[in-house]
Amino acid sequence: MRILAIESSADDTAIALLEVKRGKFTILAHEKTSQAKLHEKYGGIYPNLAKNEHIKNLPKLLKKITARFNLAVGLIAVTTGPGLEPCLWAGITFAEDLAQKLGVPLIPVNHMEGHILSVFAHGKQFSISNLQFPILSLLVSGGHTELVLVKGWGKYKILGRTLDDAVGEAFDKVARMLGLPYPGGPQISALAEIARKSSDTPRTHAEIRLPRPMLKHKNFDFSFAGLKTAVYYLTKGKKLTPSKTAELALEFENAAIETLTTKTFWALQKHKPKALIVAGGVAANQHLRKEIKKITKNVLFPSPELATDNAIMIGLAGYWEHLRNPKKKPARPAGGFKIRAMGSLKLGEMIK
Ligand code: KG4
Ligand code: ZN
Repeated sequence: MRILAIESSADDTAIALLEVKRGKFTILAHEKTSQAKLHEKYGGIYPNLAKNEHIKNLPKLLKKITARFNLAVGLIAVTTGPGLEPCLWAGITFAEDLAQKLGVPLIPVNHMEGHILSVFAHGKQFSISNLQFPILSLLVSGGHTELVLVKGWGKYKILGRTLDDAVGEAFDKVARMLGLPYPGGPQISALAEIARKSSDTPRTHAEIRLPRPMLKHKNFDFSFAGLKTAVYYLTKGKKLTPSKTAELALEFENAAIETLTTKTFWALQKHKPKALIVAGGVAANQHLRKEIKKITKNVLFPSPELATDNAIMIGLAGYWEHLRNPKKKPARPAGGFKIRAMGSLKLGEMIK
């Protein structure tokens, strides 16, 4: 069966065409456009601009796919939440029109479930077999920071989450304070890596000490607003030298990752899961990967190109949803589909 998947929850527009045979996936095509350059001057995503870009980009991306493949698909999967509602609507409307035209079912997908499943795609193949539960998931992106216990597919218990900014959002905002372009995660990470390797840095960077937020609270919640504010006061009104900028990037990355890793370690000790999954845009961070590998060998990460938003993971989640509920055919009443954007959809919550 072929699956067409559509993702437009934030500033990436993506469409994927997947083929599944005997439980294995092949990625036939994946087209993605990033709007990062457009949003750079705002230091974050400007929702209405993003929505208009999605509306413009979706037909273009589909055209690239139909130039190479016919659209004899068995189902269409589309992100319905969480995300920015205007952006979600752009994808949903486009997917509904297409599903009507092709006469195929449309499956609404939870974006975060997509991130979790992204770790099971290896190269062009995808398989979930012999999995044992529970699995602990650390989900880290521009909109989310949460520790989730996956008790079985579709059965999620949120152990803790950020009380304010998401970790990716903190990376982006701190990058802006340091004069680095959006999205800030990869920029901070690259600078921090240079500073970490440079021989004179350990001495100088000890001069800057940022807080490790929430480590005094023996729960699984996070908070990154205070850390961000601490950087703000260190940089406010100052002209930073390149070496000071690199030191700050290093100390910020160390502080954020230490918090994530410490709380994940506590959750591993308490819940003794069979495996750990780390997913979402910040899972592309090399320092996070290195530190997580120090606390457990039994960890799955997405390949770097599947860590940030993409449509492949939405196709995988859509197919998985279809397998879980083979009898539940998504309704396609004469008046059209009834899928709606759910900006703050939670894992395990029924998609309406
Ligand atoms: O999952 P994602 O593409 O979009 C959301 O669903 O939010 O995550 C994007 C976030 C951005 O905040 C970006 O700065 C961050 O992931 N990010 C990184 C890295 N690559 C992307 N953060 C830290 N280190 C990275 N290498
Ligand atoms: Zn995401």
